Amino acid sequence: MSAEQAEVVEEPVDERSKYAGVLRFYNLAKHQEWAVRDVAWGKLPPVPEGKGSPERQARRQDVWRSVIMQQLQADVLACEMAAQLLNAAPDPEARLYYSTMVQDESRHTEAWLKLIGQVGGEGERDPHLDALGHMFLEADTLEEKVFLMQVFFERLIIPRFRLIARSSRGTILEDL
Ligand SMILES: [Fe+2]
Repeated sequence: MSAEQAEVVEEPVDERSKYAGVLRFYNLAKHQEWAVRDVAWGKLPPVPEGKGSPERQARRQDVWRSVIMQQLQADVLACEMAAQLLNAAPDPEARLYYSTMVQDESRHTEAWLKLIGQVGGEGERDPHLDALGHMFLEADTLEEKVFLMQVFFERLIIPRFRLIARSSRGTILEDL
């Protein structure tokens, strides 16, 4: 083995290189950023327009309003969760990534607040969602919080997003 090769082998592994994956998530998050003003406000109906009697339409709007309320509630909780992760994470790469999560969740919240304003304003909170949120916020370790956040999003929020988008074609709700 030449001296040059030996040197390469002995070189300590870059301290930060193990965080490259986190940085990749950070760059991806920056790349996918969208602005609330880019949504087609005023050009699309906020939620699917119902047919039938005014009573029937009002009932339908009430259902959509409670769907939006749950999403709003989830994103307001997500703001708090993301802020906790940002505060708890020790590594600069993870903190960068969590700072984008805080921005994303507050952008989502802003969009839901605007949308719910167009269908009658905020309604009843879902107690189960609150219970889950509190479980996260009161978890003791960062690992536990990361795990619960994954459950919160992957099991609950993202599948619900897909279902909602499929049932609300051509509306602001689908866009969001
Ligand atoms: Fe969100």
